[in-house]
Amino acid sequence: MNTKKKTLSLALSRNFLFLLGLISMLAFACNDGPKNEKQKTNPADIVVDGKMLAELTSPPFVPAPVGNRSAKHLVVEMEILEEEGTMTDGVQYMYWTFGGTVPGSFIRARVGDEIEFHLRNHPDNKLPHNIDLHAVNGPGGGATSSFIAPGREAVFHFKVLAPGLYVYHCATAPVGMHIANGMYGLILVEPEGGYPPVDKEFYVMQGDFYTKGEYGEPGLQPFDMKKAIKEDADYVVFNGAVGALTGDNALNVNVGETVRLFVGNGGPNLSSSFHAIGEIFDKVHMEGADLINTNVQTTMIPAGGAAIVEFYVDVPGEIILVDHAIFRAFNKGALAMINVAGEPNKTIYSGKVEEGIYLPEGGGIQEMPRSPEEIEKAKPAEFLSKAQRIDMGKNVYMQTCFACHQAEGQGIPDVFPPLANSDYLNADVNRAIDAVLFGLSGEITVNGKKYNSVMTAQTVTDREAANVLTYIYNNWGNKGVEVTEEMVQSRRKK
Ligand code: CU
Repeated sequence: MNTKKKTLSLALSRNFLFLLGLISMLAFACNDGPKNEKQKTNPADIVVDGKMLAELTSPPFVPAPVGNRSAKHLVVEMEILEEEGTMTDGVQYMYWTFGGTVPGSFIRARVGDEIEFHLRNHPDNKLPHNIDLHAVNGPGGGATSSFIAPGREAVFHFKVLAPGLYVYHCATAPVGMHIANGMYGLILVEPEGGYPPVDKEFYVMQGDFYTKGEYGEPGLQPFDMKKAIKEDADYVVFNGAVGALTGDNALNVNVGETVRLFVGNGGPNLSSSFHAIGEIFDKVHMEGADLINTNVQTTMIPAGGAAIVEFYVDVPGEIILVDHAIFRAFNKGALAMINVAGEPNKTIYSGKVEEGIYLPEGGGIQEMPRSPEEIEKAKPAEFLSKAQRIDMGKNVYMQTCFACHQAEGQGIPDVFPPLANSDYLNADVNRAIDAVLFGLSGEITVNGKKYNSVMTAQTVTDREAANVLTYIYNNWGNKGVEVTEEMVQSRRKK
């Protein structure tokens, strides 16, 4: 028994020494071994295996992942089209495009592919163009080799050496103008074996546009070079137009899916503070490159740059993609929607559980602070003409009502109701007086739209109330009522 044990332990210690030796040999081998040799293989030396035609897709779709396919001689056929399109309702724009869309067709390749690029300039086009792909190592990213007049085709080759998401764009002078008209897109270079699979992939690309008319001014809007030089964009949009990814064009995903967005920024000028309202990016390939950041709220995408963002969808509802330079989102078009279908998870997000009126100062509606002296000063009650009331009422309006109801009584959409052409005001003068004296809360309908905000009671004299209401009733298409101090007094006593 004992001997057996000893023999065993001797054997173990011999084995141990042998193992130590083996480990050190392996460690040595690992430094220079065949596995690492392979990792070090210069992508330029990867041998291609056969020829294939690249699948190109229009946004927001992307071609099938490369998966495990070997490096290929990959033929890309890209056609340039100058086409009129819709920037937003009633606004047309002459887009210059790669493949008929803004952004241009998505190209998907893998490291080691040898791309045979055919750039075709449609005979109906008016201008020469070319292409600069940021995935190219070579002069102009291909621009110098691909410059072509309408009705011509240029062919050049390049080998893709580095994985990542790359912008391509036209680089024909004036370069800024060609880009500003929509000549940009993305080429994805996957590493060998591809990126890890996800459930949904989409193609989203931001761009800024410069038009002679202001945002929304109808008609065919020409490009405005002066605004472009000043970087004073009229439109900042995803996928070439306001609403390209909202409403019926919104992206659709399901709870429990992983989503990967290939996001580019064509510029020409503005960097994007790319953000998803209601979602955290689990992973971001920063700048479209190898470095992966996790749990990102907003990722910076420079003009001529890209990012790959990934997230798991936990709950149903809407995810809103924006440029978080937020006026661009709500006033210039940089807003896209992802509709998420599926079962709620009340632990992760409850939805609205309760709503009530918030009165931090105790019961009743709050009053705007105002000194008793000021109120006293405004008291004398001699007779005023209607014209005088309107005049004096305007001052009261600009001091107390303007912030919410705005200069022309237009209100603030969905928040503060309009006073202009207001059916609510014109239907009942006493109700309007009460709102000024006592405040107003709860849901009301004005011109067919529902509002549910709180108007504070205004600390005004009877005269000021009479004047400001007379001003409001005699402007912006309202029905011209004169409100007197007596009318206000009788409501105050009620
Ligand atoms: Cu061009």
